Amino acid sequence: MSIIQPKNLLSVPNSSLRIPRLRSKVGVTNQSILFSLVIPTYLEAGNINKIVRILSSLLDETIPGDYELIVVDDNSPDGTWETALSMTSEFPQLQVMRREKERGLSSAVIRGWQNARGRVLGVIDGDLQHPPHILLELLNAIEKGNDLAVASRHVEDGGVSSWSFVRRFLSRGAQLLGLIILPRVTGRVSDPMSGFFMVRRSCLEDITFNPIGYKILLEVLGRGKVEEIAEVGYVFCERQDGESKVSWRHYLDYIRHLLRLRFSSEKVEQLSQRWGFPIGKFIRFGMVGLSGVFVDMAVLYLLSDSNTLALPLTRSKIIAGEIAIFNNFLWNDAWTFADVATKQQGWHQRLKRFLKFNLICLAGLLINVLVLNLVFNFVIPNRYIANLIAIAVATVWNFWVNLKLSWRVTQIK
Ligand code: GDD
Ligand code: MN
Repeated sequence: MSIIQPKNLLSVPNSSLRIPRLRSKVGVTNQSILFSLVIPTYLEAGNINKIVRILSSLLDETIPGDYELIVVDDNSPDGTWETALSMTSEFPQLQVMRREKERGLSSAVIRGWQNARGRVLGVIDGDLQHPPHILLELLNAIEKGNDLAVASRHVEDGGVSSWSFVRRFLSRGAQLLGLIILPRVTGRVSDPMSGFFMVRRSCLEDITFNPIGYKILLEVLGRGKVEEIAEVGYVFCERQDGESKVSWRHYLDYIRHLLRLRFSSEKVEQLSQRWGFPIGKFIRFGMVGLSGVFVDMAVLYLLSDSNTLALPLTRSKIIAGEIAIFNNFLWNDAWTFADVATKQQGWHQRLKRFLKFNLICLAGLLINVLVLNLVFNFVIPNRYIANLIAIAVATVWNFWVNLKLSWRVTQIK
């Protein structure tokens, strides 16, 4: 039986998240067009028909024949992608991508752009919370020479319809966190959380993206070559059908995304290359180590302090160190060395890494105990300062040996 791929069903690229130049992708018959708009969807069967109709009539009036709509659906069980596909005979400018393996809003947008023919690439939510007519103002701003035009809730004419105090507070809190961790990216726009914007393709070409979670604009501003930015105010409408997919996990994803952008900036990469030393990884390893210090210190206090259990120092230290090792492994595997860990999935591989990590850190713990006792007995008779020094020495050992042994991919030729 042969499987016939409907004409407007796009295949999902399985390459890295990189947007090709138009010339290399476009054949003789495929002309580039002005505008490609991606509509990421998950469980939007009740909205997709309506939004496609509205967007099409809007764009047919202003740029007829010079645009395409690309629905990227993550195999929604409500059949959103099928509904969209059934509309393609009536709306030939509509294309549909059904993703079965990958998930997530940000990567969906990039997958859509990878298949786009537009010189301007845009994104809009599929639930009609982004008022479609704002698209025309955004397009206008791009035509005036801006690289990126973003719809914002936080400029004149912008707002949210009826958000509770808690929701506003969380949203602003997340923005503040963005300003602290990544000021030069989030500080460039009034609404870095916006998922309603468009950007010149030339700003994104040949860049490999690596987003997590929901906030695609962070990725575009953080890695793209965007200079001039325009903002257009809009009111974030209430949902009429379906529900938001935002959960607590997305807040964590957001923080991870900010940190990833912070420590994978080009400068860090360049320095790493020049020095032949993975600075970004070392900083992350150091931060994870710091979390371990708190764990270690807290347990050491609970076990050895004269006000608590008053166990002997060495015994307390070994237990404290072991617990910290477990804490650090989890973070290092999920974050510091995630590039390697994701290539070696499965419990077996993970266990192997954990055992190696444990052995190396156990050796580190010996060094740690040794240094602690030396410093405590001969240099500084303060167990906490001595412990800090011991941890610093062990950290350098731990990083280097783990980099070489635990999280490495052996290239097979
Ligand atoms: N393909 C795909 N995969 N689409 C998804 C996924 C996913 O995993 N998760 C959500 N979507 C789609 C939804 O179907 C919707 O069209 C759009 O992405 C936004 O998702 P919502 O869950 O409705 O998000 P929201 O309204 O709470 O959040 C929005 O907050 C911003 C304002 O703070 C963001 O999505 C932004 O776009 C918006 O501007
Ligand atoms: Mn929504």
